Amino acid sequence: MPDIFLLSSALCARAAVTQADFTGVGNIFVLNSSDWRTATPDSTVGCLDDNGWFINYEDKKECGTFSRLDNYPYTLSSKSGNCTFTNQHTPANTDSHYGQSDHAWSCTSSYTADVYDELYTIDGFPYTFLCFGDVACFYDGKKVPSVGSTGSLWQFRWGSQQMGITPGHIQLQLLWSKISDSSKRIDEESIPGPRVELKDGMQVPLQGQQIRN
Ligand SMILES: *[C@@H]1O[C@H](CO)[C@@H](O)[C@H](O)[C@H]1NC(C)=O
Ligand SMILES: *[C@@H]1O[C@H](CO)[C@@H](O)[C@H](O)[C@H]1NC(C)=O
Repeated sequence: MPDIFLLSSALCARAAVTQADFTGVGNIFVLNSSDWRTATPDSTVGCLDDNGWFINYEDKKECGTFSRLDNYPYTLSSKSGNCTFTNQHTPANTDSHYGQSDHAWSCTSSYTADVYDELYTIDGFPYTFLCFGDVACFYDGKKVPSVGSTGSLWQFRWGSQQMGITPGHIQLQLLWSKISDSSKRIDEESIPGPRVELKDGMQVPLQGQQIRN
């Protein structure tokens, strides 16, 4: 049997992601990745804790437990509260050309999430990667935090003045790892997905929109 057949059947064995995969309760792992096509769970460099901070765990129990609303606005929360990039009390990405006024993701009590806080996945992904906004599937971190300390997770921004990740920072992806389904019985198929759907071999970068200035 030719090797090529083994390779393609191995690839086919992994069912493509559907919207139903990003539901319920789960952990969010942080991957060191600048290309969603080659990222795998082996690229994991940490996770997000209950406050939404980027941590480098020794034990998975340190990772936050997030639940996704199964109705509008489909946002994430942890025991610390609703999660958002809009909390002005978190560190800003001051090293970034385009992200200087971006604040780190965080989950805080008393914050009411809206649909602009939604993370989502894309049908056809090989793993349940999480994207934000206008098909932006990458994130920015200063470095992998040392064990016991926390780091910030920012949105990835790019444009002609800074084509890639912020110099000295690392480009990241988020991976949903479902622990359980929602306790409520819901029609998970009814969660709306993004307008993008990936087909075999698509080369779309999914880096979000270029910022023009
Ligand atoms: C992240 O990935 C890049 C590219 O593969 C690699 O050069 C770098 O050492 C990695 N960094 C960490 C912290 O894993
Ligand atoms: C979290 O956001 C959801 C969705 O907007 C809202 O229903 C809920 O009341 C919020 N929780 C708090 C503590 O504000």
